[in-house]
Amino acid sequence: MDNEMTLSFIAISENEGLARMVMTSFIASLDPTIDELAEFKTIVSEAVTNAIIHGYEEDAQGIVTIRAKRDGRKITMTISDEGRGISDLEQAMEPLFTTKPERERSGMGFTIMESFSDHLSVWSEPQKGTAITFSKDFSPIHSKITMGER
Ligand SMILES: Nc1ncnc2c1ncn2[C@@H]1O[C@H](COP(=O)(O)OP(=O)(O)O)[C@@H](O)[C@H]1O
Ligand SMILES: [Mg+2]
Repeated sequence: MDNEMTLSFIAISENEGLARMVMTSFIASLDPTIDELAEFKTIVSEAVTNAIIHGYEEDAQGIVTIRAKRDGRKITMTISDEGRGISDLEQAMEPLFTTKPERERSGMGFTIMESFSDHLSVWSEPQKGTAITFSKDFSPIHSKITMGER
């Protein structure tokens, strides 16, 4: 059965874990492989962290919204904020480019999100916000279990 959901929360780091947990439940019925699950969680985590720390600079007045859809074995998700936005998107998406070099794994967020998704699109406008949409196709279930004989 297909499904749709929306989740909104304030821009504090604590909510990155919440978003990951909710989105993991949302895809659980697809029975993802360990790799697919790890990749999916990483995309969610990178996009939500960007909205919280770059979009709003951890200002709890800011609201991050996730919209997600499941069509068959395809998940499409948009993570959006109404924060500061990005003036030079091409530069922001370059590997290793960051405006916060003091952080761990600096500048690799967009590169990681791109490599773990099947499609990624980014909208951003200075002072209006940012929206990242990605889709990911999950592989068919190959059960290794069959009915046994005595
Ligand atoms: N939601 C966002 N709002 C504003 N700026 C953003 C947002 N997401 C990303 N950016 C900008 O793009 C840059 C690159 O992002 P990313 O590849 O995730 O690296 P990092 O988060 O380590 O800086 C960030 O340093 C920031 O300047
Ligand atoms: Mg990042």
